[in-house]
Amino acid sequence: MDRLIIVSNRLPITIEKRKGKLHFRRSVGGLATGLSSFYQLYDSIWIGWCGIPADNIDRKEKNNIEKKLMTDFNNYPIFLSRRDIRMYYYGFSNKTIWPLFHYFTHHAVYNQDFWASYIHVNKSFCNAIIKIAKPDDVIWIHDYHLMLLPMFLREKLPDARIGFFLHIPFPSFEVFRLLPWRREILDGLLGADLIGFHTYDYVRHFLSSVRRLLGYEYTLNLVTSANRRVQVDAFPMGIDYERFANAIYNAPVKKEINRIRKKLGNRKLILSVDRLDYTKGIPQRIEAFDLFMEENPEYKEKVTLVMVAVPSRTGVEAYMLLKKEVDELVGRINGKHGTIGWLPVWYLYRSLSYNLLAALYCVADVALVTPVRDGMNLIAKEFIATKADGKGVLILSEMTGAAKELGEALIVNPNNKQEVSQALIEALKMSESEQISCNIIMQKRLKRYNVIQWARDFMDKLIHIKKFQQELSAKRLTQTMEDKLINDYHRSNKRLLLLDYDGTLIPFAEKPEKAKPGKDLLRLLEALTGESKNEVVIISGRDKETLETWFGSLNGGLIAEHGAWFKEKGKDWETIEPLQNDWKEEIWPILELYVDRTPGSFIEEKEFSLVWHYRKADPELAQVRARELKDALLDLTANLDLGVLEGSKVIEIKNAGINKGRVALHWISKGNWDFILAIGDDLTDEDVFEVLPERAYSIKVGFGISRAKFNLDSYLEIRKLIQEMGGAQ
Ligand code: UDP
Ligand code: G6P
Repeated sequence: MDRLIIVSNRLPITIEKRKGKLHFRRSVGGLATGLSSFYQLYDSIWIGWCGIPADNIDRKEKNNIEKKLMTDFNNYPIFLSRRDIRMYYYGFSNKTIWPLFHYFTHHAVYNQDFWASYIHVNKSFCNAIIKIAKPDDVIWIHDYHLMLLPMFLREKLPDARIGFFLHIPFPSFEVFRLLPWRREILDGLLGADLIGFHTYDYVRHFLSSVRRLLGYEYTLNLVTSANRRVQVDAFPMGIDYERFANAIYNAPVKKEINRIRKKLGNRKLILSVDRLDYTKGIPQRIEAFDLFMEENPEYKEKVTLVMVAVPSRTGVEAYMLLKKEVDELVGRINGKHGTIGWLPVWYLYRSLSYNLLAALYCVADVALVTPVRDGMNLIAKEFIATKADGKGVLILSEMTGAAKELGEALIVNPNNKQEVSQALIEALKMSESEQISCNIIMQKRLKRYNVIQWARDFMDKLIHIKKFQQELSAKRLTQTMEDKLINDYHRSNKRLLLLDYDGTLIPFAEKPEKAKPGKDLLRLLEALTGESKNEVVIISGRDKETLETWFGSLNGGLIAEHGAWFKEKGKDWETIEPLQNDWKEEIWPILELYVDRTPGSFIEEKEFSLVWHYRKADPELAQVRARELKDALLDLTANLDLGVLEGSKVIEIKNAGINKGRVALHWISKGNWDFILAIGDDLTDEDVFEVLPERAYSIKVGFGISRAKFNLDSYLEIRKLIQEMGGAQ
């Protein structure tokens, strides 16, 4: 196994300076606890922030920290200044992304300085990694603090294996679009080779945002970005199952269990554990418990709610306000329902040791896990794993990622107090045999897909996608092949150059007015067509009037409407054969129906074809409609001798037998060419590649499957190539 570099905002060890002394403690939260158990199994190094402001420590302390973290834990610390902490950590990470991605849109602050700091810190992480990374390392970046890092790293280490995992939800497009820097975040993430989420819902949300905001298509969760393929998939994070399953046999845990049991007497224990975070639904939970007490007074003095709230992000106002609210609520409920000698809620505002936490899991009869939104929630999983005898009931919010895997729990809507209160009654009354049968199923699942398996699964997929990319890049026009092509070009005397236009010489344009060739391109084409040894043919799906206006003055050939029309140097437009057009009347109403059903789509009429364009329509709806329309047309057109052609965001209906390849062949057979080059970017260009003689050069722009011999990334590279051919005539 190659070396693994784990990167996250927070290291698993947090450092604090109290009374001039440095203290090292384990970090809390799902990411740190989850990853800690597997990273020791690999030859790995963990890079992240050590929790202390850099301004608080001097050079000597810094060196000591670095040395201790490296030797004892294989941790490499990043030092953040007070300002970075305020703007990047509390600011953009926890006042912008955290609330927005958890659907707390009213808490989200959009501040340009936060954003600048986020960029700055992501770049600092990048610089630190570059210093450490070796070529064969696998770099695995975690969570929402570092979403630009994959792109920054990719720029510096183009061949690196980079994975990214998001530990929080990815919101639906309607919410994500609120972010002013939404495109930058997506671009940042797409620097990775593999992007992982906890659930398939988050995957869907992400893919839909990528398509809508960046216009990149995907198939089977594989996104084709401007020049790379990126795999996106769901990997529900597991826990260190054995550590919790064996807790009951561990002496210090046993000691804690006895202590808790003594205090509890024969009361039932309802347990809730969270970081004190507004996403965890703590006030709603207390209110539901209040309702439960009110409506079921027979449970008074029979149950205790142990509510552990771990201090978190105390520098953010929303967390300070929440603390106040929870303190007051707990006070109110205890005042309202408590009796002498019985407190309904035991409230602990602090972080617990593993022994105490595991003991609480063991003793608890019910775990009440009711976040209003949670990417995964490991507490729920840890509780189930700890139940060695299978006894205990989990009440779990449907808004957690964990609910997707723990379907045998009592699933509730955390906002429905009535339902939560009802679930408490059901849990307290549930027979032991039912508890055991539900828990055994969940335990089997958690044992199988534990955190090690989760990490292994992610790593395997990452290595697999990297191999796939390498296979693709084998087709890339390398510098050596490019030199050979240019050399062959210069040595030849009769050259045919078949050049597609949209997507090949210019980027694929959303707006037609942007597709017009600019001065640079025209100059390039003038030079190419001006060379007497060249026959340059521009092949397009566009109508002949447009091509005439744009390229009429060039000394070259033109092919319009995917081959329905062509024009040789110095001649008039002609068609390959006399074409019928009466079919249009039949097809037009069908296309019109699809225009009505797909807002934003429109029909273009060309001389020998009809085109349904959907580039301006909602991309998801348009995909469904395009498939329907294609099916509908295939039946109809079979009798009419028509062809249905799928291009880039268009469906075109035209006389059968017309395609770019057919006219290209006409040109190929016209002369005795000693150099042929064809370049194109979409399906319609495949017909050209197919008719080329073996010795011809063919290049596809982009990375789809193609008959072309080579690939290049974008129209920019094509222009560069043409320039190099022309430049040295
Ligand atoms: N945890 C901890 N100390 C505590 C309470 C909880 O280390 O005092 C751990 C707990 O074992 C769990 C993690 O914190 O692994 C909480 O993860 P979860 O996914 O439930 O929530 P997050 O904090 O990531 O939002
Ligand atoms: C969640 C996040 C983690 C974060 C943890 C604790 O689990 O997904 O990235 O580390 O909360 O939050 P903190 O802000 O203290 O690191």
